[in-house]
Amino acid sequence: MLDILYNRRSTRKFNDTKIEEPIIRQLLKAALLSPSSKNSQPWEFIVVNDPELLSQLSVAKPHGACLLKHAPLAVVVAGDKSKSDVWIEDCSIASVFLQLAAEALGLGSCWVQIHHRYHDDDQTANEFIGELLHIPDHLEVLSVVGIGYKAVDRPALSEKEIDWQKVIMNSYKGVSLLFTIVLS
Ligand SMILES: Cc1cc2nc3c(=O)[nH]c(=O)nc-3n(C[C@H](O)[C@H](O)[C@H](O)COP(=O)(O)O)c2cc1C
Repeated sequence: MLDILYNRRSTRKFNDTKIEEPIIRQLLKAALLSPSSKNSQPWEFIVVNDPELLSQLSVAKPHGACLLKHAPLAVVVAGDKSKSDVWIEDCSIASVFLQLAAEALGLGSCWVQIHHRYHDDDQTANEFIGELLHIPDHLEVLSVVGIGYKAVDRPALSEKEIDWQKVIMNSYKGVSLLFTIVLS
């Protein structure tokens, strides 16, 4: 697990290998088992492998979604606000569980942000995807996770790139840096 956490990078370039159904099932199992506030599980996951739909998803917003065009798989993570006041947190955790499961299965992935993003001046990215996939109105799309076998292996961040100064020990009063060895 730590290996995955320490070495994971977002993958935006995938090769053509199809993701077989048992693997898709394992990915979704991880998402469905994610923790959620009061165990409300306010999510639904729309699994997309149709190339035409993937191509349409890749233009859900002007920037940052194009990786979906050549991904073999995308999981649209949508939440039901009426089921939880913290549906964003719950769906975010589920999105990350999907990403970590992908790594564990030898796949790469990238989160594409949809919530608070626009397709164009007239339509939100959520509305665009809702129309495209006929998503019921009570669901709002938080993210789309693009998944596939990696075309390139991105290097893990080095120890030097880790910002230990973001870790505060006990209190901001008289701040002491805990990890001086790492910082030096
Ligand atoms: C909430 C959130 C939204 C993100 N949105 C996008 C996105 O729309 N498009 C994209 O290519 N990457 C997106 N990413 C991936 C980040 O750019 C990436 O995680 C960050 O640059 C760190 O790189 P790494 O994942 O390789 O460590 C998003 C990540 C998070 C957590």
